[in-house]
Amino acid sequence: MGYYFVVNKTAWTLFVIVYISVIVADSEDPLINSLGLDLPDLPKINISLDEYERVVTAYLSEKDDSYEPVPELRVYRLNNLPRQDASHSPKMIFPIKMSSETVESALLRLLLPPQNDFPDIIEVEVYQILGVRRRRLLNEATFYLSKRFSKWCEIDITDALSTLSAKNHLGLELVCKECTNNLNPEVAAVTAFVHTVEKRKKRSTGIVGRTDCSLRPTKTKKRRCCRHEMTVSFTKLGHKFLESRVVDPKTYEAGYCRGLCPPNFNFATNHSRIQGIMHQLWKQESVNAKNVNDHNAHQIPKSCCAPSKLGDLQILVVSKIDPSKLEVLTWKNMRVLECACF
Ligand SMILES: *[C@@H]1O[C@H](CO)[C@@H](O)[C@H](O)[C@H]1NC(C)=O
Ligand SMILES: *[C@@H]1O[C@H](CO)[C@@H](O)[C@H](O)[C@H]1NC(C)=O
Repeated sequence: MGYYFVVNKTAWTLFVIVYISVIVADSEDPLINSLGLDLPDLPKINISLDEYERVVTAYLSEKDDSYEPVPELRVYRLNNLPRQDASHSPKMIFPIKMSSETVESALLRLLLPPQNDFPDIIEVEVYQILGVRRRRLLNEATFYLSKRFSKWCEIDITDALSTLSAKNHLGLELVCKECTNNLNPEVAAVTAFVHTVEKRKKRSTGIVGRTDCSLRPTKTKKRRCCRHEMTVSFTKLGHKFLESRVVDPKTYEAGYCRGLCPPNFNFATNHSRIQGIMHQLWKQESVNAKNVNDHNAHQIPKSCCAPSKLGDLQILVVSKIDPSKLEVLTWKNMRVLECACF
């Protein structure tokens, strides 16, 4: 009886922990809620190549390039894909050449026909073909198929494209782990975010004002209140929900404020200017005072370095209402533009 109770209690504890983590992993997450995000379940997402190309092109043309250079979208389609032998994995050779570009990210996008023989959720692997008998595993992914309709799926192939030379074409092979015959894509395309050489040079920004740290060369001045760089990555945050549904950006430059606020330096308000002077007076008085403890009780702090101007972030996500559409959302106050003493 006692043993049973202990086991039962353990089971309940486990159940509660699993239940809580399932909830947190899903859209009940406080971060997701505070960002006001409402995104579709992964199996429902069905973004066509045309939709992707149209919305991403518009999004990139509007993208704020104050901190990072904006990439170009390249689309390589394989038209008239031959129907391949069912017993072999489909091989796709893309006539892509990379010479002066650097690749930020790349995806293989496939329209897969309705599948009666397979489960709706399949695990796939994509290989890069290197020679007659040589291939290397690039990535693995979960595809969500449909029994009645064709379905768009995507898998990251950044590794293959970023190592591609000017000589070789890109050969890819798609392998389904549990399927009895191959997937025979109706459409295959590679989409990539690339930077050309000229554009890679950082453009002058305009936004970063007198509080930007990089504009303060000397060591002592560097420690004064200014904007530092902080790149946020959804992958590094460990946020699977954001990682899998936010099409772009995967990382962004958020910035933070840090540094000293000496009197009269970069004050944000008249109040913080006065507080700076009061702090100075208090310091002088406490040097003269005999009873230090009494003085500490009325301590007046320096003003602190904090964001004085915040900027929005545009993100590209899949629409919850129509999971075959992409939409651009604006998250308010997601990055620091300027810092000052408050
Ligand atoms: C996915 O989108 C394609 C059009 O791009 C459409 O033909 C297909 O029926 C859609 N599939 C599902 C499951 O909605
Ligand atoms: C301080 O007050 C004056 C008078 O109202 C105003 O013109 C000025 O902009 C204020 N300075 C700051 C930094 O808020």
